[in-house]
Amino acid sequence: MYKIAVIGGDGTGPEVVREGLKVLEAAASKFGFRYETVMYDFGGERYLRTGEVLPDSAVDELRQFDAIYLGAIGHPEVKPGILEKGILLRLRFELDQYINLRPVKLYPGVETPLKDKGPADIDFVVVRENTEGLYSGSGGFLRRGTPNEVAIQESVNTRFGVERCLRYALELTRKRNKERKLTLCGKTNVLTYAFDLWERVFNELGDAEYPDITRDYAHVDATVMWMVKNPEWFDVIVTDNMFGDIITDLGAMIQGGMGIAAGGNINPEGVSMFEPIGGSAPKYTGKNMINPLAAISALGMMLDTLGNSEAATAVEQAIMKVCPMLDSMAAGRMGYTTSEVGDLVCENL
Ligand code: IPM
Ligand code: MN
Repeated sequence: MYKIAVIGGDGTGPEVVREGLKVLEAAASKFGFRYETVMYDFGGERYLRTGEVLPDSAVDELRQFDAIYLGAIGHPEVKPGILEKGILLRLRFELDQYINLRPVKLYPGVETPLKDKGPADIDFVVVRENTEGLYSGSGGFLRRGTPNEVAIQESVNTRFGVERCLRYALELTRKRNKERKLTLCGKTNVLTYAFDLWERVFNELGDAEYPDITRDYAHVDATVMWMVKNPEWFDVIVTDNMFGDIITDLGAMIQGGMGIAAGGNINPEGVSMFEPIGGSAPKYTGKNMINPLAAISALGMMLDTLGNSEAATAVEQAIMKVCPMLDSMAAGRMGYTTSEVGDLVCENL
């Protein structure tokens, strides 16, 4: 019995999550597992209505679940940062979801903006550190609002945090068993403290415990260049929080766009949270036009993490069958509505 907390969130979040839950129900009856869901209304609407971003009891309550399924966070009438920091980042941090796992896989029948590249070329995974770096909140203002003001935002990298992230990435590279190549994406030529630590731990761990994994390194600026020019070079990429945030938006674009890109905030020893990585898309809210495949794909990742790889694989295969049926991955141009795409995935499961 899986206990799943559902946070539809803002904008189109609830619409895409609804389709994901349809697929969950279909998967449960096909594969014979049971689950229960509890819906939470955290997000911009609740904040505007009550002034509360996340009740203090929420985090402890969420700890009791097997997984969290999230739609989107971000509301056009709420100042940027309040909901992101107060809900999304707070949950990532307090639930210690130290890995942000973002597969970049081009499914057959999906259009990529990369000329002459196909599904055989675009198939890698980004492992983004999810609790440290520039996201730690360390820093502050001095003399704010005066002509002499100073703003400092520090990147925090602990050996503990770096090591557990690298270890996860090394294990994943081994488990994927493709090229067994792990690329560290950093900036050792400028960020000579942070990425010195990353590089040393990478080499120490690799030499001592992962002789079967080929270690590779690329600066972040070169990484984005190769992602466009030769994406087939990548198997698994591991990187810090900020670089991971940036390169995975590029990753989403080369795999067909925000309509299809999914991710998991993972605590391998605790409660993980799965989400489509596109935002709340306020423009499309309530129009039944947004693509739910990213959310459905996130649901598949959730099933995999819950230990049901059979159901997870089936969901991914159903998505792969549906992709070629759509005119485009973009909202409003799919040739189907949001709920029709959800139905198609259920029928193909
Ligand atoms: C993401 C998002 C978040 C991030 C924002 C909304 C805080 O861009 O999940 O990639 O920066 O991590
Ligand atoms: Mn992002």
